[in-house]
Amino acid sequence: MAREKFYDGQDSAEPDDAAQEPADQAGESHASPQEIIRGAEPDSGLRPRRLDEMVGQQDVIERLKIAIDAALGRGEPLGHILFDGPPGLGKTTFATVIPAEMGTTVQMANGAGLTAPKDLVPYLTNVSAHSVLFIDEIHRIPKAVEEYLYTAMEDFRIDIVLGEGVNARTLNLELQPFTLIGATTRAGMLSAPLRDRFQIREHLGWYTQEQLCQLVQRNANKLSMSVNDAAANEIARRSRSTPRLANNRLHWVRDYAQIKTKGDVSLGVARDSLDMIGIDKLGLDKQDRNYLDTLIRVFAGGPAGLDAIAHTMNVSGDTLEDEVEPFLLRSELILRTRRGRMATGKAFTHMKRVPVKN
Ligand SMILES: Nc1ncnc2c1ncn2[C@@H]1O[C@H](COP(=O)(O)OP(=O)(O)O)[C@@H](O)[C@H]1O
Ligand SMILES: [Mg+2]
Repeated sequence: MAREKFYDGQDSAEPDDAAQEPADQAGESHASPQEIIRGAEPDSGLRPRRLDEMVGQQDVIERLKIAIDAALGRGEPLGHILFDGPPGLGKTTFATVIPAEMGTTVQMANGAGLTAPKDLVPYLTNVSAHSVLFIDEIHRIPKAVEEYLYTAMEDFRIDIVLGEGVNARTLNLELQPFTLIGATTRAGMLSAPLRDRFQIREHLGWYTQEQLCQLVQRNANKLSMSVNDAAANEIARRSRSTPRLANNRLHWVRDYAQIKTKGDVSLGVARDSLDMIGIDKLGLDKQDRNYLDTLIRVFAGGPAGLDAIAHTMNVSGDTLEDEVEPFLLRSELILRTRRGRMATGKAFTHMKRVPVKN
């Protein structure tokens, strides 16, 4: 299963990465941030370590370089940064590359693990001057934690409550000046006060075909594979504009080539291997095609309600709405109308079906 997910790599929004480190470990001596990062993801060996190794997002990189150099020049911490954008586009990568550029350390937390202010305290008391605290999925922190962050971000201080009941005392603790980097797939879910406390906000968008092709070629080199231009292009085309998926596909192609051919990856090998795991030339996987097939064959192309489609496919509506439909909408294969979902002409063509006239 793990293997399947690794290769097929849906754009899942689940908490990934090293951020799953339980909060209570933060106070103890544990693996260095670099070690944590390395163990984080199957493709973590391919994760860029410096800004110059990153592909695409050039405007973001340029702005960050200026901010970093200015902060270093002044001897101040970098302003807090918020990254938003769909999964797999480089939010965590930026959060690990920035501290490397600054020559400082990073602690990684996940919003889902910060259920109360006390979960945040070990991280905040552990920050060293000008170091980075990364909170992934920051939209998942509850209100109480969020409010606790306000003073930490603005004034670098927090209140700690000691004791209970009538004996309780609050201790105002000064923190080292640090940089908070937040990442979210749902910027809209962040409250305005929190959003406004980030001096730098960057949105990460989809990668172009050329950028992904460049990424595939670079990473093929890192993996000591020989992949020709046509094959790299094909892998890029089937990767949904997403670096994480391009890396996952590349890993599969490598396995396939190692077993089935002498290891060289030509266009034919790239095609055959990706066909074999059900990824077609638009980057759709089996579930996506199953969705289109249901909509076209059973509902004559729609309009059909989400629940009706979900019941017919025997999957939950949430899964379809969160994992399947976004890419189909982006690819202009389906429309969401008030009366329900409809397949577009492009979907009929792709599925090799002829629309029925009624
Ligand atoms: N700009 C980039 N250049 C090169 N590789 C990238 C880039 N963005 C992402 N990647 C690769 O894609 C993988 C997923 O990126 P990640 O930063 O974990 O995405 P996110 O945190 O936004 O979900 C990384 O491990 C990295 O190898
Ligand atoms: Mg991430």
